Amino acid sequence: AALADCGLEASPGQSAELLRSEVPLPEAFEVPLPIPPVKKPVRTEAGVDHYRVVQKKASLEILPGLRTEVQGYDGLFPGPTFDVRSGRTTVIEQVNQLDVPTVVHLHGGHTPAASDGWPLDLLLPNGGHHHEHMQMSGGDQKTGSRTYTYPNTQRAAALWYHDHRMDYTAPQVYRGLFGLHLIRDDEEDALPLPRGDREIPLLIADRAFAADGSFRYPAAKDGPGVESAYMEGVVGDVVLVNGAPWPILDVAAARYRFRILNASNARRYELALDPGQPLIQIGSDGGLLGTPVEQASLVIAPAERFDVIVDFSKYQPGTEVTLLNKLGKDRTGQVMRFRVTGRASDDTSIPSKLSSYAEVREPAGVVRRKWAFRRGDAGDHKGWTINGKPFDPDVMQAEVKLDQYEIWSFVTDVHHPVHVHLAPFQVLRRGGKKPGPYDRGWKDTVDIRPAEVVEVLVRFTAHRGKYLIHCHNLEHEDMAMMAAFRTS
Ligand code: C2O
Ligand code: CU
Repeated sequence: AALADCGLEASPGQSAELLRSEVPLPEAFEVPLPIPPVKKPVRTEAGVDHYRVVQKKASLEILPGLRTEVQGYDGLFPGPTFDVRSGRTTVIEQVNQLDVPTVVHLHGGHTPAASDGWPLDLLLPNGGHHHEHMQMSGGDQKTGSRTYTYPNTQRAAALWYHDHRMDYTAPQVYRGLFGLHLIRDDEEDALPLPRGDREIPLLIADRAFAADGSFRYPAAKDGPGVESAYMEGVVGDVVLVNGAPWPILDVAAARYRFRILNASNARRYELALDPGQPLIQIGSDGGLLGTPVEQASLVIAPAERFDVIVDFSKYQPGTEVTLLNKLGKDRTGQVMRFRVTGRASDDTSIPSKLSSYAEVREPAGVVRRKWAFRRGDAGDHKGWTINGKPFDPDVMQAEVKLDQYEIWSFVTDVHHPVHVHLAPFQVLRRGGKKPGPYDRGWKDTVDIRPAEVVEVLVRFTAHRGKYLIHCHNLEHEDMAMMAAFRTS
């Protein structure tokens, strides 16, 4: 009851405080769904594609009739989509024309440590108005531009890239620093899945807007991070898909493939169609499943991805199909709408065998580690901790041998979407039983729930250096729910 009184959007899996917009909310299902443009390389040399991205401010019309200043990759919200081949290296020059330092992380990437986006490896803006303290932290700093190298040595999957600056990830992603990075391979290409304009990215992110149209985000009160009132995470009252509020997409009566990413700071969604039909899940964070799975609804935590087929030929032309969020209420209970226009030819199908994905057997001699995600005060730190410690870039909480199988157990007091850098994992057990309905496939983010141990099998390969495990509720992350480990 106390929760309801102070405006908490209390629903299963959601206890963060709702930040309300100061402007009237727009009508739903009027803005057409935008599709982020696919980024083109500036040049290709010796089989390596080189790109250049400028991080800059832009004034965009997100809500009809209002201007919102974003800080985006190429000034876009979301940023451009990278569409690359497995095993083919991309080199991305990032140019910082913002007035804050940034860090770019490729989430889900099998990335050398130097390009992984260590939170102190800052890219400082040119122009010299950064404060002195920005120069003092112990990372590898560059000014103006910085080059990230991604070998893409991994199977086809939907990765995403976003800011990862220490203590400031949440506000910087909120203002626009995120985008999709798709990896393709021959195994996926050979499947008769929908493609072209029937393969649609859906980047879902909630926001709140101030009276002048700007993004509303709680100011930092006591140093880095957000007001402690928002310690649970910031959730807004406007649901954006690809940067548009409750958009609408015209679809043919045919199969579509949706690459769904929850790019929200802290909000979970339970996605379902109305009128109902199951979502056919074909992939998760780390690429295709072995076989398709029907899901009546899909719970997606921050940073998770689901690869889903919807067959609109099951609806009469003219039908309006709403994508619901069963964890939201009122306006946040809806995400977007599809309008089925007319019959169309469709030579796609959903093969019963999607990929060579196989469950890894639990090998003998595996190393076990426990990671406890808890609220915690340590000295003058008030916030969140892992194994009792707030993030300290100088402390390695684990030394991990490359190629060694490990079982990591995640325990918690409240909900946290736990993310591990460098290597994907398979969920072995949830609450001592088999994995949950949304835990299938290779994952890099897993939603852990109160009083429920989640055990995952992981093996790091190829790259030596410092990497991270953290909560992907971005306010929790900024309030220090992050730990470093070293691979060697
Ligand atoms: Cu999506 Cu360490 O982050
Ligand atoms: Cu958390």
